Amino acid sequence: MLIRHGIVVDHQDEKKADILIVDGKIADVAPDISSYPAGTRIIDAEGLYVMPGGIDVHTHFNIDVGIARSSDDFYTGTRAAACGGTTMVVDHMGFGPKGCNLHHQLAVYKDYAKDTAVIDYSFHGVIQHINDEILSEMADMVEVEGISSFKLYLTYGYKLDDESVLRALTQLNKVHALTTVHPENDAAIALRRAQLLEEGKTAPKYHAESRPLECEAEAIARMINLAKLAGDAPLYIVHLSNGLGLDYVRLARQNKQPVWAETCPQYLLLDERCYEREDALKFILSPPLRPFEEREKLWQGLMDGSIDTVATDHCSFTYGEQKQRGKDNFSACPNGMPGVENRMPLLFSEGVMSGRISPSRFVELTSYMPAKLFGLYPQKGCLAQGADADLVLFDPKQQVTITHDLLHDNTDYTPYEDMNCLGWPMMTISRGQVVACNGEFMGKAGNGRFVRRKPFPHQ
Ligand code: URP
Ligand code: ZN
Ligand code: ZN
Ligand code: ZN
Repeated sequence: MLIRHGIVVDHQDEKKADILIVDGKIADVAPDISSYPAGTRIIDAEGLYVMPGGIDVHTHFNIDVGIARSSDDFYTGTRAAACGGTTMVVDHMGFGPKGCNLHHQLAVYKDYAKDTAVIDYSFHGVIQHINDEILSEMADMVEVEGISSFKLYLTYGYKLDDESVLRALTQLNKVHALTTVHPENDAAIALRRAQLLEEGKTAPKYHAESRPLECEAEAIARMINLAKLAGDAPLYIVHLSNGLGLDYVRLARQNKQPVWAETCPQYLLLDERCYEREDALKFILSPPLRPFEEREKLWQGLMDGSIDTVATDHCSFTYGEQKQRGKDNFSACPNGMPGVENRMPLLFSEGVMSGRISPSRFVELTSYMPAKLFGLYPQKGCLAQGADADLVLFDPKQQVTITHDLLHDNTDYTPYEDMNCLGWPMMTISRGQVVACNGEFMGKAGNGRFVRRKPFPHQ
């Protein structure tokens, strides 16, 4: 395949060039490539941005959260991702049966994705408890299995206490893995939730009142300090939703601590006013949507470099059925929202086209930094010779109003219904194969491959 005359963008710059793809890899990037194998398919990308495919490092496909199983599996989830310009996901494994080890849960997830994923994938390990077996498995997970990042939760059923967090951080640091964390203060949330329910405050909007931003910011600060105590263990904060948490991240980075932060489109584009809507249940997720003014603080973080990645936290439940379980009690509503198909167009439209970030910064946030932090670079996240030919072609002139009818997931709503996007992914290419074109899915279940990731580089 030869992609001609596009504006080729990587995390550093943009230039007019052609890209030649041979055997699923990038063979050449140069102006006016004129020699190519016979039978090469030629794609005219005049006026289009040609960028590394998106890497979404925060999805929850096929997850069982106890009160519900998410409506997207690795087929419908990766199909939606592909149609939105994403060519790789790093999914967060859910919790397994009580006491299960790391290899057990990896086998379960590999089985989920094996014959279903349409684009490449990996998983973050999940630490649901700490004991000698788990600690001793970690090195093998990194070196043999290629799982070089692990998730800890400070809230939900399998939250870790401080001692377990410290032991996990210390060992993960030692075996060259990146620790990622869902930071919320569980005790504060539990107390507030109990008080609200006792007062009869059960409507969806009280979900947000039960876990205000200080619950998250406190846990971020705590994790940063525990990571320091664990010998400067590298730490990645997932789904950052507010400016106070961001200030703690900034402080740690000023002190040269290896800390990175991810935010998600919902925290940049939606806010707590959604909880006043009649369909407020659609927006129940954790951390919850925040006051309007937090949005601009996060944009500032994207612009000044203190936020490193944008991922989705796609965790879908149907509004018609599953979300309704929270109708009379917010605490019975499964937490999470869909979004995997909208990340690239929303950030492109609201970030690049509105002039907040450059096309290169867009690539950095959606592909390059995810690849660097999660051990995929330079196989993914760039357009260098020899890299996987994972690409997205964006038309900056295409205007699309998002409606759920256009999307390819297996839920029944989008939180971004009726939002106007300027700029849209016209073609997605996964290892040289067109998997989506003009809003139409063209991939195949089982074509996605499990990617072994490299150990986390030490500072
Ligand atoms: O509410 C959310 N975000 N559900 C998915 C699990 C998580 O916390 O990331
Ligand atoms: Zn093993
Ligand atoms: Zn989370
Ligand atoms: Zn999540």
